[in-house]
Amino acid sequence: MTKIICFANNKGGSGKSTTCASLAYAFSKAGKKVLLIDGDMQLNLTLSYFSEEVALEIAGGDKNLYSAIKEQKDLTDYIYHTEYDGVDIIPSSTLMSSVEFELFTKWQREFILKKMLKPIVDSNVYDYVLIDAPPTLGCWVMNILCASDKIILPVEASPWGLFGLANMFEFINQVKELSPSLDLLGVVVTKVDARKNYFKQTMETLKETEGITVFENVIHLDSSVEWAQDNSKPVGSYKKSSRSALEYKALADEILAIY
Ligand SMILES: Nc1ncnc2c1ncn2[C@@H]1O[C@H](COP(=O)(O)OP(=O)(O)OP(=O)(O)O)[C@@H](O)[C@H]1O
Ligand SMILES: [Mg+2]
Repeated sequence: MTKIICFANNKGGSGKSTTCASLAYAFSKAGKKVLLIDGDMQLNLTLSYFSEEVALEIAGGDKNLYSAIKEQKDLTDYIYHTEYDGVDIIPSSTLMSSVEFELFTKWQREFILKKMLKPIVDSNVYDYVLIDAPPTLGCWVMNILCASDKIILPVEASPWGLFGLANMFEFINQVKELSPSLDLLGVVVTKVDARKNYFKQTMETLKETEGITVFENVIHLDSSVEWAQDNSKPVGSYKKSSRSALEYKALADEILAIY
């Protein structure tokens, strides 16, 4: 059965897109077939697999997530292969800035993405669908959550990384009223700076929070992440021996062991 996981946190810059892109590559190396969906107008997930030139050309064309939503089409026709076996992607568009407006007039507007994804799920071609959410909490992110089985919540190891997390948990609980089977798979701590103490405090605070799983494997700050993004590659492909590539591989193994 195809499992659908989204990466969500309304806190910007917490590592959602990096984690989504890196785990997709690590999952594929573990023999899984993965479909990525870039749900953000910033195109960061798309840019992790395609050059800026290609990403912008797709974003301006009529085969991207936004054009599919506009027509409420079966998403199967919007899939692109990447250069990696086992990783396909539905790229985003900068026009996703209007997605809230687009959804507003639609019938059962929280479930548009779920319906559009159904043929892909039913075809059982993919082991995992990984969806990158934007840093917002509107109807579009509700769509992403309602289309997902599980949520992975990346949290930056910084004082403000934890601030506002309660709002995110509250939002998840509200969406669970619409989609009762939705679950938080776990929280992953990202951008850990080994020189600072915040990490220990972040882990302690998270572990004291009732009802959540905190992944054992954390992701440290690593310049390879930025170089990989600059080269439109997931970090595992850009530099397989880098700290972050190894950490994302370990995190992928931890996730695959439980889900
Ligand atoms: N492990 C890391 N080491 C170094 N830089 C990182 C790491 N993880 C993420 N970054 C950088 O931090 C920034 C934010 O990361 P990312 O875009 O993945 O977060 P996001 O939660 O998707 O952001 P947004 O909320 O804007 O969508 C990016 O510039 C990225 O290059
Ligand atoms: Mg992002």
